[in-house]
Amino acid sequence: MTGEAVVAAVVRSCSASSLADRFFVPGAIPPDEVLARYLPYLLVDRPAGVTVAGLVDGVPVGIGTAVITGDGCADVSVLVSDGARRRGIGIVLLAAALEATGRRTAHLDVRSGNAASLALVARFARGGRRRLLGMGRGTLEYAVTPAAHVHRSVADLAVA
Ligand SMILES: CC(C)(COP(=O)(O)OP(=O)(O)OC[C@H]1O[C@@H](n2cnc3c(N)ncnc32)[C@H](O)[C@@H]1OP(=O)(O)O)[C@@H](O)C(=O)NCCC(=O)NCCS
Repeated sequence: MTGEAVVAAVVRSCSASSLADRFFVPGAIPPDEVLARYLPYLLVDRPAGVTVAGLVDGVPVGIGTAVITGDGCADVSVLVSDGARRRGIGIVLLAAALEATGRRTAHLDVRSGNAASLALVARFARGGRRRLLGMGRGTLEYAVTPAAHVHRSVADLAVA
């Protein structure tokens, strides 16, 4: 399965409203529109960054994307299939994407009304360090340096 096919499978397994959360657009955005407009943001190649995929029984259920920034950090974001949430996939993909860049600190932009991703960021920062870098237009920007055990747990899981 190509990287593009994996990304397409994950995007098509998400509701239009959760895709709007991922891309900070109002309301809802259908999967095909996401793929037409945002594929380069979801499928990132080295050296700019990396996209990691979570597979369950060979089926793509989530992607984590990290783009290396000039300050030695990485901008990280995740998208998990609607039917695969609350199983720890999002947290693993966050950690895996960051780890794959070799950076220790992730920058994460989160919609202030997105309870799931706010909770995910809090969970990712548990035992590590979280700083609020900025606020604007309904978004919060965090820098998270996760605890080492988050990284170790990634090695135990099959993230391709
Ligand atoms: C946000 C998102 C990635 C979470 O993925 P997930 O695989 O469900 O997250 P996990 O199962 O790894 O959750 C890890 C922790 O985050 C918190 N969390 C995740 N979803 C939550 C929810 N809906 N409500 C409350 N807490 C939540 C919990 O603390 C959870 O740990 P727990 O289940 O042990 O309590 C997923 O909801 C998603 O893809 N949303 C749409 C796109 C988006 O908003 N992306 C975020 C951009 S950073």
